[in-house]
Amino acid sequence: MIFNAVILSIRLYFCGSKCTMNLSDHLHHKVFRIIASVAAEEHTPSYVIGGFVRDLLIEGAGNTPKDIDIVVIGSGIEMAEKVKRSIGEELSLTVFKNFGTAMLKWGDTEIEFVGARKESYRRNSRKPLVENGTLEDDQNRRDFTINAMAISLNPDNFGELLDPFGGVRHLEEKVIITPLEPGSTFSDDPLRMLRGIRFATRLGFDIDPATQNAIHQYRERIGIVSQERITDELNKIIATKQPGKGFQLLDQTGLLEMILPELHQLKGVEEVNEQLHKDNFLHTLEVLDNIALKTDDLWLRWAALLHDIAKPRTRKYETGTGWTFHAHEFIGAKMIPGIFRRLKLPLNEKMKYVQKLVQLHLRPIILSQDIVTDAAIRRLIFDAGEDLEDLMTLCEADITSKNPRTVKRHLRNFQIVREKIIELEERDSIRNFQPPISGDDIQKVFGIPPSRPVGIIKNAIKEAILDGEIPNNFEAACQKMVEIGEAMGLTVHQELKREDE
Ligand code: CTP
Repeated sequence: MIFNAVILSIRLYFCGSKCTMNLSDHLHHKVFRIIASVAAEEHTPSYVIGGFVRDLLIEGAGNTPKDIDIVVIGSGIEMAEKVKRSIGEELSLTVFKNFGTAMLKWGDTEIEFVGARKESYRRNSRKPLVENGTLEDDQNRRDFTINAMAISLNPDNFGELLDPFGGVRHLEEKVIITPLEPGSTFSDDPLRMLRGIRFATRLGFDIDPATQNAIHQYRERIGIVSQERITDELNKIIATKQPGKGFQLLDQTGLLEMILPELHQLKGVEEVNEQLHKDNFLHTLEVLDNIALKTDDLWLRWAALLHDIAKPRTRKYETGTGWTFHAHEFIGAKMIPGIFRRLKLPLNEKMKYVQKLVQLHLRPIILSQDIVTDAAIRRLIFDAGEDLEDLMTLCEADITSKNPRTVKRHLRNFQIVREKIIELEERDSIRNFQPPISGDDIQKVFGIPPSRPVGIIKNAIKEAILDGEIPNNFEAACQKMVEIGEAMGLTVHQELKREDE
């Protein structure tokens, strides 16, 4: 990924400070030339800076970048207004007066203009801007060297890379490092500790030891950052290709204990009678990395991260059996709402989905170990409903044995479970199971009000279908209803007719 044609064709950075790198051929978006001409007319030097420059050097420039950050030596808002006028199309411009920034939306690209500043770069801070600065002041105050690189949009050196802290070298060395003394960068804005971990994870970089030590040292400062921003970074870490690395770094820097203590508690191995259980933290990260190979779905990835979350609470050593984690899937599912609430994750169907997968995550494994009965598969289809495929993906990711024979055996058994599912689905249509007889029907037939017997009968019909005792159709369900009702001392008042008759 790193250092594609862009960098290879312009490896100039080892030739000393006089060498320059010109990237004008890579500034494809029309807005750059427009900004350049407004900047020249207005004598307002302007630069593209930050993530756009970093990603251009890593991946090359696409034609429609999502975000472009422009820093202006002067007023960012005025520049944005002039650029908008110069483009001449009906574009939306959002001005944040307090922060001295303006956002121009052109097609799918958001272009943010900001005046160069002396004090810290705090995009979401409530604190209004105070002091204007030079480009160098502004670069000094950015989070990492790879994010502090700028490209000139000015007539005398259009396209020139301005890289005062060796960002290009750090891209090549694959290292995340702050431009200034790391303590000051992180105390300016503690969210950067998480950003650093996110970039290291996304790019597969290391964090420079002094920078990483400073994260550890300043970890308590994360307490002043809003939960929404913390969780946004967590989600971005989870969305990377190998999120496990991010959680290792969170752990090593002491941030995990503060942000997600339940996950931190999975760490460690205990020994009784020379029997060890596995380190559930490492196992969880492996499962997360495994699932990241199969799906980009954030919530399925969250389910992987939290699937064993109740293991520390349920861990027991039982003589004769060894280590057990009885009911960890149920207790884990119960822990999910609390964790989601604290992390300010949505408390809607996404949470219910994660909860459901955590609760069911052992079911296919158990099935694949036992002789697979139709009834057990039917129950699984019924309980997992439309999330059955995702559940199977989670269960496959959960196989982290180092013994290739065990892995092969599990995968083969899962294949049998999958085949059975297909076979039964074709026959019984259980997945989005709607009972053939409703509570209303039962009340009508026996002439009874809404009451406990109605629920008992309804449930007994469902169980009979799932057990395969009766087929999933109206006639059989009707007969079963009468049978159970009469056994309970009820009498039939009215025959039930199928709606379409
Ligand atoms: N920045 C910073 N400190 C922060 C946030 C942002 O110094 N806490 C600076 C960095 O120079 C960063 C730029 O602002 O590159 C733009 O920030 P943002 O758009 O949030 O991030 P990107 O670096 O563009 O990366 P991504 O879009 O992947 O988050």
